[in-house]
Amino acid sequence: MSERRALVAANWKMNGSLASNEAWLTDFTAASNEIACEAVVCAPYVYLPQLRARLVSDQIGAQDVSAKLAGAFTGDVSAEMLRDSGCDWVIVGHSERRQLHQETNEMVALKAERALQAGLRPLVCVGETLQQREAGQTLAVLSSQLAAVLQRAGADGLVRGGVAYEPVWAIGTGRTATPQQAQDAHAALRAQVHQVAPASANALRIVYGGSVKPGNARELFAQPDIDGGLIGGASLVAADFVAICRATTV
Ligand code: PGA
Repeated sequence: MSERRALVAANWKMNGSLASNEAWLTDFTAASNEIACEAVVCAPYVYLPQLRARLVSDQIGAQDVSAKLAGAFTGDVSAEMLRDSGCDWVIVGHSERRQLHQETNEMVALKAERALQAGLRPLVCVGETLQQREAGQTLAVLSSQLAAVLQRAGADGLVRGGVAYEPVWAIGTGRTATPQQAQDAHAALRAQVHQVAPASANALRIVYGGSVKPGNARELFAQPDIDGGLIGGASLVAADFVAICRATTV
């Protein structure tokens, strides 16, 4: 275990309703004294005020943010608006945004930079596709994704948020990276930050995402460079999310 405080974030994606969220929040807050890690809930924009009524701002995140300041960008939400709605965190560069909304490394880096300028903490997602893994390109892909963000947001900026390693082939598939596969990727990402900013590299939280469940979380989190998780499907059940949070403490 490192001295970095573990971070576990729920990514609800496009799920939830006022009623089901309320039940989730009741279960989650009832169990909060069992949780030692930093736990963050990333919800659809419209539910952020609902979360704010029950949680504090550093427990709340959005799932995307505009790279623009303000103006004629129909449907987009700015970093300042997220701050205004009482959330501290934002997921940036999730593979579903990269794949379904054609977000490039540069766009992701601009979003992270904008988020930081507004005082948000960006959780920047990186990860390779199955095709890239099978072609032996995993570390090169991760390196270019991280390099773009490092250049714009800086190592200190990344430390204010975090990095999520999410192999695309493991997201929502039930197929988890082995602890060793994940550890190897996390170590490579940390080494890349270390080259430019050794102290930041040691402080940087790199979390794993991709079919994390209560049953496999503990062995993933036991790896020296895995500092928590980004949890999709399993975060929709509060008890499972709490169990995963608890798996950060051995
Ligand atoms: P999953 O999603 O836990 O459902 O695989 C993780 C994510 O996409 O952040």
